[in-house]
Amino acid sequence: MAKTILALNNLHPLGLDGLEDGFTVLRLGREHDPENAIQAHQNDIVGIVASVGNTVSAKLIEALPNLEIISNFAVGVDNIDLAAADRRGVVVTNTPDVLTTDTADIALSLILCAARRIVEADAYVRVGKWHGGAMRLGTSLSGKTCGIVGLGRIGQAIAARAAAFDMRILYHGRTAKTHVPYEFCSSLHDMAAQSDFLVLACAGGAETKHLVDEGILEALGEKGYLINIARGSVVDQDALLIALQNKSLAGAGLDVYDNEPNVPESLFSMDNVVLLPHIGSATMETRRKMAQLVIDNIKAHFNGDPVKTPVAA
Ligand code: NDP
Ligand code: DGY
Repeated sequence: MAKTILALNNLHPLGLDGLEDGFTVLRLGREHDPENAIQAHQNDIVGIVASVGNTVSAKLIEALPNLEIISNFAVGVDNIDLAAADRRGVVVTNTPDVLTTDTADIALSLILCAARRIVEADAYVRVGKWHGGAMRLGTSLSGKTCGIVGLGRIGQAIAARAAAFDMRILYHGRTAKTHVPYEFCSSLHDMAAQSDFLVLACAGGAETKHLVDEGILEALGEKGYLINIARGSVVDQDALLIALQNKSLAGAGLDVYDNEPNVPESLFSMDNVVLLPHIGSATMETRRKMAQLVIDNIKAHFNGDPVKTPVAA
């Protein structure tokens, strides 16, 4: 049996070559008939490389009798059926820590761009509107309240950055943290009502699906901004579109959406939103480190060593 790694993602910019010395790499993107290719190698596939948007379903996991590891090129693992992997004893790994600061930087960029109208201001200069007078005023960050949903690795890095901008920090999650100087809010609704910027940095998946619904957006209110670097699924996107259209929300900064890369067209004409194409971790430096971790985890597993970054079952 040729030990085969099924690559649903190509690990740009590092690439998959680092796996070639020990494995046959089945690059699914190069196959004319992907389903057929998987079937043909069904018994050889011992590992999967996946990322955001590459669904690793129970059906796929169950179809691969010799699968041992799923190495995700992302910290979020909501693309993987973890319960199915656990049932089969398949190890799952992700890429925590190495992407924390870059992703937190993007959250702060979204806050700044939304509040200070930076994207709009750039266009204002380019199209010559400045000659017609000054543009609309923005909103200060200093002294405002930043409510963070999910004070994990990235949430804490966002908090440190927002605190450096003289913002008051609140956070909501399943549990209060003992080691942080920020105020815990057990009620997301109460935190939203107190927040000028509600920043989503929690895990995706079933547990957080539509955590931010119409009621939370209403509590955030017409002076509030929603910033999402977590997952599109955390927000009820239809409710968000309505709130933005009605101006019952001041604005939004979004890096993630339902059903990426499809972004609702109604957002394109709104001047109170900033839209990014899921670039939280998208720097050369970080993507290289993430890709290396993906490869290192697979190699460690098949060398009989502990994987570096396991996802708890
Ligand atoms: P962590 O595991 O460190 O943090 C996840 C946080 O989510 C925890 O603080 C946890 O809080 C919180 N959480 C989990 N379930 C709930 C819930 N039901 N309600 C409220 N909070 C909850 O992960 P990271 O900080 O490393 O990453 C967080 C997420 O950011 C990833 O899962 C991914 O989806 C997203 N991400 C997006 C990127 C992008 O490019 N836009 C890049 C990288 C990550 P507690 O334990 O207190 O409940
Ligand atoms: C993640 O790691 O979860 C991001 O969404 C992609 O880097």
